[in-house]
This record gives sequence, structure tokens and C-alpha cells, in this order.
Amino acid sequence: MSRLKGPRTTSSRKKQHVDLAVSGDVGFRAKTTGLEHIEFVNNALPEINLSEVDTAVSFLGRTIRLPFMVSCMTGGYADALTINRSLATVCEEFRIPLGVGSQRQVLENDRFRKTFQIVRERAPSVPVIGNIGAAEVAGLRVRDAERLVKLVRADALAVHLNPLQELLQPEGNPNFRGVLDGIRRLVGELSVPVIVKEIGAGISGDVARRLLEAGVRHIDVAGAGGTSWAGIEILRAGNNRGNGAFWDWGIPLVPAIRALASLRSKGREFTLIASGGVHSGLDGAKCIALGADLVASARPVLVSLRRGGISGLRRFIRMWEEELRGVMFLTGSRTVADLRGAILSSYQRP
Ligand SMILES: Cc1cc2nc3c(=O)[nH]c(=O)nc-3n(C[C@H](O)[C@H](O)[C@H](O)COP(=O)(O)O)c2cc1C
Repeated sequence: MSRLKGPRTTSSRKKQHVDLAVSGDVGFRAKTTGLEHIEFVNNALPEINLSEVDTAVSFLGRTIRLPFMVSCMTGGYADALTINRSLATVCEEFRIPLGVGSQRQVLENDRFRKTFQIVRERAPSVPVIGNIGAAEVAGLRVRDAERLVKLVRADALAVHLNPLQELLQPEGNPNFRGVLDGIRRLVGELSVPVIVKEIGAGISGDVARRLLEAGVRHIDVAGAGGTSWAGIEILRAGNNRGNGAFWDWGIPLVPAIRALASLRSKGREFTLIASGGVHSGLDGAKCIALGADLVASARPVLVSLRRGGISGLRRFIRMWEEELRGVMFLTGSRTVADLRGAILSSYQRP
């Protein structure tokens, strides 16, 4: 597969990603998360008062209002300033965490530093997560990683694993040798925790086990069924590239959560974040009942912001909260920890 070098910069790529994510048809085609086959069993005797339901949890040493975060998305090009300012403003209002997009551009030059800095300026009291890609991590010096952390005064640095994207991206870097060692080094030497995430193709039980052995204690499965990054890269590259075979590649969200949750039950403590096609508080509640500690969304958040502005995003999160509270009431779960034990059933669609 030939790789284009040169004219397309990191900044213009980031802009194309956002534009395609909000306007393109970039969902999975046939594959789904699996959440639609799961339902809560109604508890007709919940024995709690709705007003007692408490959705707050602790994450990265801070108390947050909901077990929900805005996933890493953007930064590093001019329009990202407005997007990140809006995301951060609303996350601070709701006291929920957010991640910035890949900070690779900051390693290249200083031009768009502000697009990242604005996040901590507008969200001073919630967990903020920095971000860098697997392809960079193998050769990344710890002092450069610290620069990224410092720029947003991050509570953690996310490393995204995206081999599918690097495979399909015309200017991609499909060299994943040394990534696990790079992650191990960051875990050992960085001043903040490392979160390892996929971007929509899922993390398997085997990969999670290797990450845990390397010392990682926060994993975001980012499973299949939501945003198809193969789809985004195929659309970006134009229709003449015959890579449609990979559009639906990946481990669906539900089996990914189950595989990782089972590792934890074997005695290893780690924070399990569920993302990839989570559209609502009801979806999020199912992820938590399946074993996730926290739930994250990217494209649904961006779409609600693009369509309805800041108030559209507020509506989205308010709805998320109401649905989660509703599920907690209807399952007799006073706390998010109680929701973990809520009874689920899998329905076969006719
Ligand atoms: C416009 C856009 C840009 C993204 N950029 C990044 C990124 O820079 N770093 C990263 O780790 N993930 C990135 N992601 C992936 C998301 O964090 C998330 O893992 C993925 O989109 C699956 O979640 P979703 O189905 O809710 O969109 C991006 C997602 C979107 C929609």
C-alpha cells in the first residue's frame, strides 16, 4: 500500500476528522455494539426514593457528578479552539472529565498550543486527560510526554492504540514495534497515570492482559459499533481505495467489556472505561452493569455540539443523567456501585 508523504499536515488531518465525524456516514455498517440485545430486569420493588439516587463517582482522585466522560477528540488546528472551549465549559458545569485529542501536533510546533490549553482554562476542577498515539509512543522521550501533560495540567495521559487507522490512513505509520515497551516506560516514569485506549476497534482480553502486566491501570475498550475509523479514513482517502473490507473491523463493545471485566474479577484492580457507540444514559447504564467503571462518548457529543451548540450539548448530558438516574431507580440501585450488580437479561430479537 503506497503511503503519501508531505502536503497533508497533522492540523489539516485533524480538521478533516472532525468534519467527517459530524457530517459523514461513518457509523459501522452491519456490526453493532451488542447493547441493543441487553435489557435491565425491571425491579417492581426498588425500595428507594428517586431523590436518594447518587450518580457521583471518583475518577483520577476527583469526585465527578456522573460516570461519564467526553472522550479524547480534538486540538491542534484553528477551529479546535472553539470546539475544545465549548466541551470544556460544559464539562466543568456538569463536573465530568474530558480528554483532548492527540497532542502530536504540539510535538511538531507551537502554533496551536492554545487549542489544548483552553481546555484546562475552562475546566479547572475536573479530570482532564492528555493524548498521544501509539505510533509516537515507541520513540517518545518521557520529558516530551511530560510537556504534553503540563500543557493541559492533565490528570492522566491517554495513549491511543489505532493500528487499523494507521493501516488505512494514506499518511499513516503502521509500525507498532516497541509500543508496549513505550507504554511500560511511560507507566514507570510519567508523573501521572497512563490510560490506554483504542479508538473504535476494541481491546481484547489478551491485549488487556499484556497492558496490565506492563503496569497499566486504566483501560478504555473503545469497542466496535460506534464510530468506524476505517470508515472515516476510507472517506478521507476518496472512493478509489478499495479498503471497504475493513469498515466493520473490530471487537463489538459488549464482548470487549465482558472480556476485560472478567480479567478484573480474577483479582487485578483497574479502571475499565467503556466507549464506542454509547449514545445515551441507558446505554451507559448497561455498560456499567456489564462491569465498566466509567463510560465515554466521542462522536455523539460532537454531533450534539455541532447541531445544537453549547445548549445542545447541555441537553445531551442532562438527558444522559436523567436516563442513568431513571435506570438506577428502576433497578433499585442507590449508587453507581449498586448498578454494577443490577440484573440484566439478553433478549434475542425475533
Ligand atoms: C472527531 C474525532 C476525533 C478523534 N480524535 C481522537 C484522538 O485524537 N485521540 C484519541 O485517542 N481518540 C480520538 N477519537 C476517538 C474517540 O476518542 C473514541 O475512542 C471513538 O470515536 C469511539 O467512540 P464513539 O463511538 O463514541 O465516537 C476521536 C473521535 C472523533 C469522533
